[in-house]
Amino acid sequence: MSESRQQQPLVLVSNRGPVTFDTDGSIQRGTGGLVTALSGLATYREVTWVANAMGRGDAEQARKHDGKAFRVQSPVGGDYDVRLVVSDEEAYESFYSIISNPMLWFIQHNLWDLSNAPDIRRHEVDAYEYGYKLVNEDLARAVVEEIDGVDEPVVMIHDYHLYLLPQMIRERRPDVFLHHFVHIPWSQSDAWRVLPSKMREEIYRGILANDIIGFHTRSYRRNFLQCCEDLLGLEVDHAQGVVRIDDREVWVRAYPLPIDAASTRTVSRRVRVRQFEDELLRRRRDFMILRVDRADLSKNVLRGFSAFDLFLEQHPEFSERVTFVAQLMPSRTDVPEYREYLERIEALVAVVNHRHGTPDWMPIQLKLRDDLEEAMASYRHYDAHIVNAMFDGMNLVAKEGPIVNERNGVSILSENTGAHEELGEFALTVNPFDVQELADMIHRALTMSNEERRRRADGLREIVLARNPGDWIDDQLADIRRKASGAAAHDD
Ligand code: F6P
Repeated sequence: MSESRQQQPLVLVSNRGPVTFDTDGSIQRGTGGLVTALSGLATYREVTWVANAMGRGDAEQARKHDGKAFRVQSPVGGDYDVRLVVSDEEAYESFYSIISNPMLWFIQHNLWDLSNAPDIRRHEVDAYEYGYKLVNEDLARAVVEEIDGVDEPVVMIHDYHLYLLPQMIRERRPDVFLHHFVHIPWSQSDAWRVLPSKMREEIYRGILANDIIGFHTRSYRRNFLQCCEDLLGLEVDHAQGVVRIDDREVWVRAYPLPIDAASTRTVSRRVRVRQFEDELLRRRRDFMILRVDRADLSKNVLRGFSAFDLFLEQHPEFSERVTFVAQLMPSRTDVPEYREYLERIEALVAVVNHRHGTPDWMPIQLKLRDDLEEAMASYRHYDAHIVNAMFDGMNLVAKEGPIVNERNGVSILSENTGAHEELGEFALTVNPFDVQELADMIHRALTMSNEERRRRADGLREIVLARNPGDWIDDQLADIRRKASGAAAHDD
């Protein structure tokens, strides 16, 4: 990167911003792994964060600042220049609740039950044309304004909501350096054949307008490269991770996202966490199993409860001795598939509790809320932590649990999570579809010797603590520098 490129403020773009505003003007931190990952960047570099206005409060703030960037202080620390972009309400709804979720999310997590869905009709095509495209277009205009007059600007784009954005920016600013990080898996080529070919081609051409595309794992990187070959017939160098398109080279890299261990531990020591802990310990049985997730279909919550059901049936000696605490944050409830999933979760919990419960023991404690401090209290005391996602980009909870837990708790981890590429050696690996295997692993975790628990927990902690989000960002900035200076691609 030239000197001017290194000193300029970076422009970050994502659907969700670092903060959201209520209509009374009060500020809350934006939710989700993406915001957590990027928040550190602002302490590192001058950043202007362009994001969609997520609700009325955000839209009011955007209007108050004439649609321009303004300075905000996040309640969890950090100052940002934020520019909130307001799109037409109906267009945003189509962008978020039809195309981004479920359409793209389900393709990338292999969630479509293809004999039943999706049906792509006028409704979906219009949602793409007049929703997804329009919101990407609104953001493109804002980004182009932000980089107006800046020499050699660098724009870092995030996630699956914004696949068309890079090309829209590139058309107006051919000199821009575009870096796009995808926080979710990249599925294999056949999963993408669900999309009508015109839509698919536009999406791939959109994202291939970037200079660098980053994923959490080498396996998603491999899938992406293969897709470019299979679906677009492009020339791909698999070893170097390069796609050649229209006389340009696009680098495709893997940057596994670490957690900020120091701040996670700070949160885990708050007074309110202690209060939750007191209550938890009062009710605690011999063993506690924990899961903490968004209530998303990809997280495989139902098979987790079915496995616990099976475990209790096959090991009656654990009756009244173990509680499964499930803290699930309702998510995307405007999308029918997500609403229905929540209902199925509640129904299954009622069945399992009815089948195995006793007058003073409820096997599953379901907590349908987003309360980080309550989750932290549970992290401290689990004996087994279940992360059995069907497919998942990284799954940061798999990293948070081990560094907060005080009991050398065992991690039961799906082989299809991004985190498994790093943590698999010290976790109990499960195939997320194999319910009997998960039931067996629950038993193995709860009967494991203290020595083995300690060995595994030490191993997990060591891996999680080895890198922090600063390293993640440094690796990406180093690649931006390399590519901008004309260096050749290198092996990951
Ligand atoms: O990358 C996946 C992601 O965008 C993460 O930020 C977070 O885990 C989740 O999806 C949040 O989804 P939403 O913004 O739809 O609530």
